[in-house]
Amino acid sequence: MRRALVRAYMSSANLGPGFDILAVALDAFYDEVEVRVVGEGLSKISLSVGGKYGSQVPAGEDNAVLAPIEKALAIAGEKLQLEVTLNKGVPPGRGLGSSGASSAAAARAVNEILGGVFRDSELVYIAGEGERKVSGEPHYDNVSASLLGGFVLVSPGESVRASKIPGGEGFSFLLAIPEIQVPPKKTGHARSVVPRQVSLADYIANSSSLAKLILGIVTNNPKLAGEGMIDRIVEPARERAGLIPLYSEVKNNALKAGAYGVVVSGAGPSILILADREIHGELGNMLTEIYAKRGYKATIVSATPAPGARVIIG
Ligand code: HSE
Repeated sequence: MRRALVRAYMSSANLGPGFDILAVALDAFYDEVEVRVVGEGLSKISLSVGGKYGSQVPAGEDNAVLAPIEKALAIAGEKLQLEVTLNKGVPPGRGLGSSGASSAAAARAVNEILGGVFRDSELVYIAGEGERKVSGEPHYDNVSASLLGGFVLVSPGESVRASKIPGGEGFSFLLAIPEIQVPPKKTGHARSVVPRQVSLADYIANSSSLAKLILGIVTNNPKLAGEGMIDRIVEPARERAGLIPLYSEVKNNALKAGAYGVVVSGAGPSILILADREIHGELGNMLTEIYAKRGYKATIVSATPAPGARVIIG
């Protein structure tokens, strides 16, 4: 029986000034997708969903894993009967690229089953179909990071292109993940509050940040990268809309305690902090206390850049 089991890590999109074009895969959480061929000559896919967060994602057609598999089979012109299993380890709805990880794992797994017919650039497009299913439009930032690993730069628009950014392998991050109720279609809502027009001053400030951030990554300089993790356009709008609880407080205190940079992870509500590993313990305690004082429970986890989606059994 042909089968492929693939692991894909979570990711954090935007990194401040890189709205929709930058993301990093992180090793804090991962999804696994297994695809088994049980018959040929007819297209039929059955899905079973398990894992720690399995009950928090749709179990049927609306799950992110099915659309990439269907798309890949359609492009390849293959008719297969498949059993697909998703082991859901990335918490959904937290800005941690949960559907991107599922989509990337599914795309890589079906490609393995098909004998590796697709290049990574095609798999990015195929995996984007999972995001389209979940959020109505494909955002390629998360899927690209989960698929390729490390830091990625994505060209938006119709002809999607994702490139790995070399560097930053030794960076270490803390993720602050508040346990709050998020609205249904959270990402769509968080995108609706983003301003459609920006001032020239904000455009220049964000361009400067983005340049510093990328230069910091490629030169393995977390201090410079952290200086570039400042966004004057998207994050302030999301914070004003109440989507990122305690963002300013967390950010100011973390920077005061020695963090290099603090950003909203994806569309929130999680917060991503770039900080040396040595201060994670102290920072983590401080952040837990900040959230607790205001009545929030939050999970604080360390993470480093993760590899791309890879076949574990195939
Ligand atoms: N870049 C997206 C956003 C993240 O911030 O809305 C979801 O892919």
